Amino acid sequence: MITLIKNLFSKQNIEIPTISTDIHSHLIPGIDDGAKTMEASVEMIRSFQDQGYTKLITTPHIMSHRFPNTKDVLEEGLVALKKELVSQNIEMEIAVASEYYLDETVMELVEKREILSFGENYMLFEMSYVQPLHHLEEMLFKIEVAGYTPVLAHPERYVYMHDDFSKYERLKEKGVLFQLNIPSLGGYYSKPVQKAAKRLVDAGMVDMLGSDAHKMTHLHALKKVRAAKIYSSIFTKNTIINNNL
Ligand SMILES: [Fe+2]
Repeated sequence: MITLIKNLFSKQNIEIPTISTDIHSHLIPGIDDGAKTMEASVEMIRSFQDQGYTKLITTPHIMSHRFPNTKDVLEEGLVALKKELVSQNIEMEIAVASEYYLDETVMELVEKREILSFGENYMLFEMSYVQPLHHLEEMLFKIEVAGYTPVLAHPERYVYMHDDFSKYERLKEKGVLFQLNIPSLGGYYSKPVQKAAKRLVDAGMVDMLGSDAHKMTHLHALKKVRAAKIYSSIFTKNTIINNNL
């Protein structure tokens, strides 16, 4: 009898929360520091598939000083990648947006409303990891006026924010959504990044999850965290909207 009761309340009835849409990766071959070749990209996409993902919104960098990509380059890359997936009979829904490094060049695109957004006009953006961006709030205001909702990529990676949590709260007050990198929770980047990631999760400040996959090691790190206890704790404390995108 005790065994029966134990079984009733054990694993069988517990649904492990998860997501099947990834919204941050670098899968278009040869245009940024992500997949270098079509083969590398396909290998990563197969790994996403093995992990239960059914949709990928890939987000190559648009960074004027390092990867001066354009909307056309990204869209052409997507067409070629989709063609390859069809030829290899790989079933995966795939779309393209971008991870924008905020600067004046990107703000020109915002003003012209030429941002590759995803979902409900979400704009994924990043900034310097080591120093605060001047005029950030002005930029955020312009982004919102242009009709986009700014989504900060991996907030846990900006080291100058770690010692002042109010900086995160301030951004949230300004309407910024937060996209956490799942590998951060496993300590993939560093201990301080892991600590900040846990703190954001505990504070219920995470809106979206991403792999930020550039290469296979990121897929391995992703798999490890998704199987860990900490992964399910994200869903009890945060409203994650990936599966609506
Ligand atoms: Fe990224």
